[in-house]
Amino acid sequence: MADLLTLDDLDLANLSGKRVFVRVDFNVPISEDHKVRDATRLEEAVPTIRELAAAGAVVILASHLGRPKGKRDPRYTLRPVADALVPILDQSVRFAEDCVGPEVEALVRDMDPGEVVLLENLRFHAEEEKNEPGFADQLAALAEVFVDDAFGSAHRAHASVVGIAERLKAKAAGRLLAREVEALGRLLGEPERPFAALLGGAKVEGKIDTLENLLPRLDLLLLGGGMANTFLAAQGHDLGASLFEPDRLDLASEILARAKAKGTEVLLPRDLVVTDSLDSPGRIETVPADRIPEGTKAVDIGPETRKAFAEAIGRARTLFWNGPLGVFEKPPFDAGTREVAQALAHCPGFSVIGGGETVAAAKQAGAADHLGHVSTGGGASLEFLAGKTLPGVAVLEKGR
Ligand code: 3PG
Ligand code: MG
Repeated sequence: MADLLTLDDLDLANLSGKRVFVRVDFNVPISEDHKVRDATRLEEAVPTIRELAAAGAVVILASHLGRPKGKRDPRYTLRPVADALVPILDQSVRFAEDCVGPEVEALVRDMDPGEVVLLENLRFHAEEEKNEPGFADQLAALAEVFVDDAFGSAHRAHASVVGIAERLKAKAAGRLLAREVEALGRLLGEPERPFAALLGGAKVEGKIDTLENLLPRLDLLLLGGGMANTFLAAQGHDLGASLFEPDRLDLASEILARAKAKGTEVLLPRDLVVTDSLDSPGRIETVPADRIPEGTKAVDIGPETRKAFAEAIGRARTLFWNGPLGVFEKPPFDAGTREVAQALAHCPGFSVIGGGETVAAAKQAGAADHLGHVSTGGGASLEFLAGKTLPGVAVLEKGR
């Protein structure tokens, strides 16, 4: 893997008074009363922000939040994020009502060394996602140096990720971005064996490329969540009313065959929690995976499967987990994901997890501190492990 420019390649001693545009991924869940529900992405960006502020830089933070589709929309304002950042950073944070334009330019030129400002949502401008040249020029006009610490957005070739990096000569990956690339890169390098991947979530779609790229490297493949249904169906099980992807059955069979040929052990759910209705369950039972009663659907892995997954995690010397193993957002169908998350604390090897719900489950289980790496990227970590070149990473490679 190519080497990334990092903060060590910027002359920190020379940053005093310089304006540094820091792309962060503060796309965090916000509650209806405008509070940040999970501050992981804020906390993880703090080392870079502190380092730059300590060097006397004017720190200009920019992020997207949600998908406002190019229009100013109060539901997606970053103002609550600026408020939430203050106690975490332990320093005052200014807020700019927009991310480009003469007023923002005047504001950042007027700031003192070491001060921090968060700009309003980049995606209030449709030009951001289009990487429109004029918009990238406007972003670049705000600063003299570009630092990208937004790993979660590194798979997006947007103006604040790629366009600005092409315009500012002094640029680098922040500490978080560099750490993400290093940790995830370890999984694709020569991971210690046995190497296990635990993949969950609703669908196979979106994970196929990751699964295909990891499969030849894996000793153990554990599948749960809705995506496991497609594999169970491919084995000929009658899944009752469970969701699965009929157009992926051949692909699932082929993956199982390839795993078998290579000697990769595949663990599919042996028992499942089923219900007649997600919203008003009248009936909840645990059944063998090949005996799903008519009219019910699988919504979580059962206790036997949880045990088998925990045992496999306890054997892994390298582990990657992305995706919940049941309908995590609807308790009690979060139980399987939670129980398996507890087992993470006993993984003897280098474990990496990614994806909002997986990280939330690991944190709630108190396992997050035992992990090798908690990725702040969902889609970005999957694309990285699919072997794809992330545009936000490529643009920060040395010697480009
Ligand atoms: C994420 O949370 O997945 C990232 O912030 C990227 O957001 P996006 O999928 O809306 O581009
Ligand atoms: Mg996403």
